[in-house]
Amino acid sequence: MTTAASLAFAEDLHPEDDHAASARAHGERLGATPVSPGAGAALSFLAASVSAKAVAEIGTGAGVSGLYLLRGMAPDGVLTSVDFEAEHQRLAREAFAAAGIAPQRFRLITGSALEVLPRLIDHGYDLVFVDGDKVEYGEYLDEALRLVRPGGVIVFDNALWHDRVADPAQRDPQTTAIRDLITRVRNEESLRSLLIPLGDGLLAVQVAG
Ligand SMILES: C[S@@+](CC[C@H](N)C(=O)[O-])C[C@H]1O[C@@H](n2cnc3c(N)ncnc32)[C@H](O)[C@@H]1O
Repeated sequence: MTTAASLAFAEDLHPEDDHAASARAHGERLGATPVSPGAGAALSFLAASVSAKAVAEIGTGAGVSGLYLLRGMAPDGVLTSVDFEAEHQRLAREAFAAAGIAPQRFRLITGSALEVLPRLIDHGYDLVFVDGDKVEYGEYLDEALRLVRPGGVIVFDNALWHDRVADPAQRDPQTTAIRDLITRVRNEESLRSLLIPLGDGLLAVQVAG
């Protein structure tokens, strides 16, 4: 079995550049907890592996995950990211500009995820990354299944939720919602899934092509 030292080794394989480190500091200060460097590397990898030209994100935060996604996407790929905190998106916009990302490569939409997502185009996205309200993860899956193209990938952050998901004694609403999501994805024959134990856990789901 993997030890904590091995997990730390896997995380440390991907040291972060100054742009991501600066966005991370803003995200942590705001309480918009960023993806870990290892989880960020996994997002870049997954975006590259589906040759992503269009990615939708729920939970912009201060832009750490966005930086990693944009790096893995096609050079002309566009990230559409939703967050109901305008201040978080202001910092994300600054982080993308500082990293030299052209403004036409990202579209930041301020609003509640469950109000904005229905306006996005069906099957228009190669990858959907979910990092919003954990209690809404089941509803985000419904939306993401409509948004992603056949063969595309949906990725949920916090799939291990601070070690609570694996502990059956933990029954708070966030933990229960994430556990229900994992069960649902595992029981759905048209979905292929993988739980990656980097950061706080990434649940990657591929929709049948
Ligand atoms: C964990 S942070 C995202 C961190 C970001 N993905 C990163 O790696 O830098 C979660 C974000 O989701 C936003 N959020 C939470 N619930 C939301 C909702 N229902 N609709 C839109 N945004 C939401 C919060 O404002 C916060 O910025």
